Amino acid sequence: MEDINLTAKTAGLKIVDKLTQTQDLTDEELKVLLLCEDEQVIQYMAQQARAVREKYYGKDVYLRGLIEFSNYCKNDCFYCGIRCGNTRAERYRLSDEQILDCADQGYDLGFRTIVLQGGEDPYYTDERMVPIVRAIRERHPDCAITLSLGERERESYQRLFDAGADRYLLRHETADKEHYEKLHPAKMSFEHRMQCLRDLRDIGYQVGCGMMIGSPYQTVDHLIKDLRFMQSFKPQMVGTGPFIPHKDTQFAHEQAGSTEMTLRILSIVRLLLPDVLLPATTALGTVDPMGREKGILAGANVVMPNLSPTGVRGKYLLYDNKICTGDEAAECIRCMQLRVSKVGYQVVTSRGDHISYEG
Ligand code: 5AD
Ligand code: FES
Repeated sequence: MEDINLTAKTAGLKIVDKLTQTQDLTDEELKVLLLCEDEQVIQYMAQQARAVREKYYGKDVYLRGLIEFSNYCKNDCFYCGIRCGNTRAERYRLSDEQILDCADQGYDLGFRTIVLQGGEDPYYTDERMVPIVRAIRERHPDCAITLSLGERERESYQRLFDAGADRYLLRHETADKEHYEKLHPAKMSFEHRMQCLRDLRDIGYQVGCGMMIGSPYQTVDHLIKDLRFMQSFKPQMVGTGPFIPHKDTQFAHEQAGSTEMTLRILSIVRLLLPDVLLPATTALGTVDPMGREKGILAGANVVMPNLSPTGVRGKYLLYDNKICTGDEAAECIRCMQLRVSKVGYQVVTSRGDHISYEG
């Protein structure tokens, strides 16, 4: 038995070395890493992931100020607490003034990336959204503006880009069409989502894709497909965190994704895409009180504190037990600074662009 374990360990360590050196593995090798239970191999993978992120980004951890400006959504994704079918969600929309105030406050607190995130709210036509983006661009020329508004048409993405947006987050959710269809109602299309990602990249955005870890019906083979998709798409950002059930969804009684699998994926993503911008997500901090710190130690280099007014924080609930819903933005930053420095890294206030986009 011991010999077998030793052989598995040696094989695992070798695979990590190959991944670090070549940024590529066979499906079989990826599977070994995803299923590996040898603590030493997992630690080695995290250590290599840290070394790679430090080569590109040093000890810096970038801050993104998240403004969750509307929780209305026309979609009905089976996993999400703000899906339109959830009549128990308390809906809100920030006014333009509130959004701009939040952005100003964020700027004063040192944020140089503002993320506007919302459900797919039909209220925000281009006529409404473009002036908001333009106003933030004019007030804060040295800030990056990231949008996370879901699926729109190419012309709309283009108008928002022309108004001054720099980056766009649109998780692909899963790279497997059949799996996608188990997580979404029939009127949502896997092809359209993938088309959106290509459009965003063609327009010139820094683009982020990503998936939940441990979502219902997800298999190791799906995760391998996700990793392959990232390898070919080459996103500048990857957002990935554990699936967490929400009580008012059909997945209410499904199991949450694990911290361990999420950390492993973070390390593998870092090694596959060495210079990617990779957040330690709020969802990871929700399934594990030290999740974000562990995420940074697994290769993540971004954190996204909430800038939304405290009055609406508790309403943007995609999943149950979300952390940081009661804290003022200033407290949240202080807390993040402390958490990040405790594990040997430092929060910085630069824009934190992908290295291929810098100056
Ligand atoms: N658990 C974890 N993440 C979720 N998201 C939506 N619902 C959940 C949930 N229940 C993620 C999706 C979406 C992003 C904004 O939040 O991946 O793209
Ligand atoms: Fe938000 Fe700690 S990071 S309160």
